[in-house]
Amino acid sequence: MTQDELKQAVARAAIAQVPVGCIVGVGTGSTANYFIDELGKIKHKIDGAVASSEASAQRLRKHGIEVLDLNNVSDLPVYVDGADEITRHLAMVKGGGGALTREKIVAAVARKFVCICDASKLVDVLGKFPLPVEVLPMARSYVARELVRLGGQPALRQGFTTDNGNVILDVHNLQILNPQELETTINQITGVVTNGLFARRGADVLLLGTDKGVETLTH
Ligand code: A5P
Repeated sequence: MTQDELKQAVARAAIAQVPVGCIVGVGTGSTANYFIDELGKIKHKIDGAVASSEASAQRLRKHGIEVLDLNNVSDLPVYVDGADEITRHLAMVKGGGGALTREKIVAAVARKFVCICDASKLVDVLGKFPLPVEVLPMARSYVARELVRLGGQPALRQGFTTDNGNVILDVHNLQILNPQELETTINQITGVVTNGLFARRGADVLLLGTDKGVETLTH
């Protein structure tokens, strides 16, 4: 199976995790896009969606799915999103698409985080994929120096502005042995909006697309 076929397979499998009559939290990226397309097929069974990016909101609307403001939603039973890396403990690196902050906010509200990935995303140790950090533009150089002190090599994502008007530093060469600790440490640097480690609030379920089928991992 191709990587795209694996992504489609997990997107299809994630539909079983969506309760009838609920508002669905929807992530960002190519795997999440496949999920949105699947959601379009069952749109009469859901009450609407909350999106973690403008791009996902647009795709949901194209399918005729109502996109709600998170501030008007108090109960979000499930959030479905991809990841750039994930461990068997269901800690993730996210933000390859630059939507990490909104993803983290929607994930915080959701009762259940369902991560959908092809098998290439499963790793023993996080950090080979550069860790995205969203930063207020005026703090860019200061935050970069602090990230170097933590052992990383930050690189400004060129020509990219987040949906929130900020910049992204992609931090290379981190071997993340304690994801929860590093997530907190980086978030404490003044000027950081958030970082792409989803460890304190990791996934609850991983649907992993493999050549043998979709594997389900939970805590
Ligand atoms: C978006 O900001 C990311 O967190 C995505 O969820 C992640 O990059 C996975 O994207 P793909 O499904 O395109 O690999």
